[in-house]
Parts: sequence; structure tokens; C-alpha cells
Amino acid sequence: MSSMSSFYRDLFYIPVDAKGAPVAYFCGHSLGLQPRAAFDAAQDVLDQWKAKGVDGWFEGADRWMHLEEEVSVLMGPLVGGQFNEVAAMNTLTTNIHLAMASFYQPTKKCYKVLVDAPAFSSDTYAVRSHVSLRGYDPDDAIIEVTSCPGCDLLTMEDFKAAFDRHGDEVALVFVAGVNFLTGQLYDIQAITRLAHAYGCRVGFDLAHAVGNVPLALHDWDTDFAVWCCYKYLNGGPGSPGGLFVHQKMIEEGVVPGLCGWWGHDPSTRFCLQEQSIFVPSDGIGGWRVSTPPVLPLALLKASLQVFQDASFDALCNQSVAMTRRLYQGIEACNIPGMEIITPATESNRGCQLSLRIGSDAAAMQQKLQLQGYVCDYRVPDIIRLAPVSLYNTMEEVDAFCDLFADVVRAHGSTGA
Ligand SMILES: Cc1ncc(COP(=O)(O)O)c(C=O)c1O
Repeated sequence: MSSMSSFYRDLFYIPVDAKGAPVAYFCGHSLGLQPRAAFDAAQDVLDQWKAKGVDGWFEGADRWMHLEEEVSVLMGPLVGGQFNEVAAMNTLTTNIHLAMASFYQPTKKCYKVLVDAPAFSSDTYAVRSHVSLRGYDPDDAIIEVTSCPGCDLLTMEDFKAAFDRHGDEVALVFVAGVNFLTGQLYDIQAITRLAHAYGCRVGFDLAHAVGNVPLALHDWDTDFAVWCCYKYLNGGPGSPGGLFVHQKMIEEGVVPGLCGWWGHDPSTRFCLQEQSIFVPSDGIGGWRVSTPPVLPLALLKASLQVFQDASFDALCNQSVAMTRRLYQGIEACNIPGMEIITPATESNRGCQLSLRIGSDAAAMQQKLQLQGYVCDYRVPDIIRLAPVSLYNTMEEVDAFCDLFADVVRAHGSTGA
């Protein structure tokens, strides 16, 4: 095990199998592992609450009032957001709603939303609900960018073709950064440029990108982005999500569409009964809505401190190397009917690989799990797995590849 792997791996709890042996956890694309520091962070909040009650908000260097901003500042570098462009808040789907309330401003002629296919269900529900709320028919107003028949991946040509057909009618582009099913990393900068060339606002769902691949949202001129922090950011199940709004958008007059007291100017936020007109906080702060969830934020802060102490570039290099080894190892298994649908080109993927296994994919995933290899299954025929550089090792990758062909063959044909 390389020293980098073992150093960071030791900062996490690794789940164990029935015999007490650590599993090879390749499911960070779904739920990241628990940083050891999270436990103490939670204990600290509980102790403060016990000892101080409401004064926990205001007293001491670690008062809760600043926690949300501290977490946001730690998250900024991971998405390439500047100060006052990034907020840790709510959860992902809620943040999609908040972003759409601001960025989806349809007119009679220009009301369509361009999305990538396949999109995650919750994104689809959110987009459809906004389109309906504004009085448009989702089946007409939502344009899916699809790949050519028989292909799983989208090319820039697919995006260009969709713009060529619908560009004048598109009000908003909302696509993934890394597609949840295929693991394809889109060219966020190129899509942003294309959308802007057609005069559209553009945002990204970075659920599967943040903490996985380098991001430079400010420099790429992205209008907005949303994400969750329970995957590669290891914030814990249901941890707070993130929202990025480019400073330029705020300067151009984009404002929070759905307001709450926590987004109000802090100098008068607590003049409760005297306030009826919402005055947004500076920058991203205006998009905040509710009292911050202190306990989950404390867990997330503990996790983000691991990233702060590490070099994200070094983590990404290690991630690229492990994913390459996994890709090559699976390919070398030469399993008839099995296909890696994630791009072979390294710049077009993060650490997730998606394998089309065939009709037995669910049973295969169970078999792997029983052998101590945790990955997941997505209907109808896909197994997803991701080596995460913070806590996975090359040895685990090699062991998975050694086992994989045997498990598939012992199971019979892939049924693909
Ligand atoms: C791409 C994507 N969008 C949306 C969601 C839903 O996130 P949440 O339940 O935090 O709203 C997920 C959850 O995994 C996701 O992967």
C-alpha cells in the first residue's frame, strides 16, 4: 500500500465483513465512508448544546453561527468557487429547486430546458415541476440531449445538435457534471460556452463530480451549480448540499427566487416582526433559507478538513491511476457480453466505472458483496464501482480484478 493511501485511509472507518475483515469499499459514488474525525465533531456539538443551550449559537470560538460559512469556505476550492459564490445548505434536490427559481425565467418564445439523458430521477422531477409551475408542458419544454442509437455516451456534437435545433427557444441548460449512470465526465467549460453562445443560462448537477474531479466553476464562467456532499465529500448520509452562483450572475441582477430568513441581510435578520421585505445577504448568502443544521454541518466540516489537509491534485492523480488499473484489469478479464460503458478516455471520466453486465447484474453485485467487494447495482443491467483515492488502495483494485472474472464465470454467462 502506498504511503499516501495508508495515511489518508487511516483517517476513515472502513466497514468490515461478517468475519471482521475490512471490505473493499467501492461505493463512494453513493455514500462516502465516515471520517474518524466526524465522530468527535458530532460529540462536540452535542456537548455544546448540552452545556450552553441556545448560547451555542453565539458563544465561543466554535459558535454555530459561523459554521455554515466555515464549511462553505472549505468547499469553495473543491468546486473552484470564490468567496461568496459557494454555500453549504439544504440538500441537493432542494438546491435544484432554489436555483431553478432564480435561473429559469421562461418567456413565451424562450421557455425550454435542455437536460442530459439519462438524468437522475430527482433532477427530472425538479425540472418538470418548475416547467409546470410556470405554465408550460414538460413534454414540450424539456429537451433531452441523447446519444446516438446504441451509444451510451454523449458527445459535444450531441449537445451542438440540440442547440442547433432548439437554441432560440432554450431558456436554461441543466446537466450533470459526471453522469450518475455512465460515469461520463462532461466538458463543463465547453457546455457553458455553448450555452452562453446561444444566450442561455447554464447550471450543473455536480453530485458525482465534486470531490471526484477538479472543478473550476468561476473560471469556467458557469452560472450556477448544485451538489450533494455525501458521496465523494464523505459528509455523511443526507448531509447538507452545496450551491454555487457565479458573482457575475449576482452583478447581472439574478436574485434568490424563494426566500427565507437565513438569506436575509444579517444586520437585520433578527428584527423579526419588523421585517416584511426580504433584503438578501451579500453574494450567495441570499440563497440561504433556513436555520443551518448544525450537527450535519459539523460532520461535513470534519470531512472537508481532510481535503484541506490533502493536496486535491495529488488525490486526483492517485484516483486516475487507480481507475486506469481497474479499467485495464476488468478489460483483461475478457468477459463475453460485458462492457465498460464509462469512457475509456481518462479526461472523460472520474473514478466511477459502470459495467454493463447483463440481466444478472443484481445477482453479480450480491456475489461480489458477499466476497467483501462493495459496489452497487442500477437497473436494468449496470454495476457501478469507484476506487476512491482517500481510502481505497491499489491492492484492493488488483484483488477485485483477480476475483471479478472468477465470480462472473462461476455465475454462468453474463446474460447480456
Ligand atoms: C445526480 C443526482 N441528483 C440528485 C440526487 C438526489 O439528491 P438528494 O436526495 O440529496 O436531493 C442524487 C442522489 O444521489 C444524485 O446522484
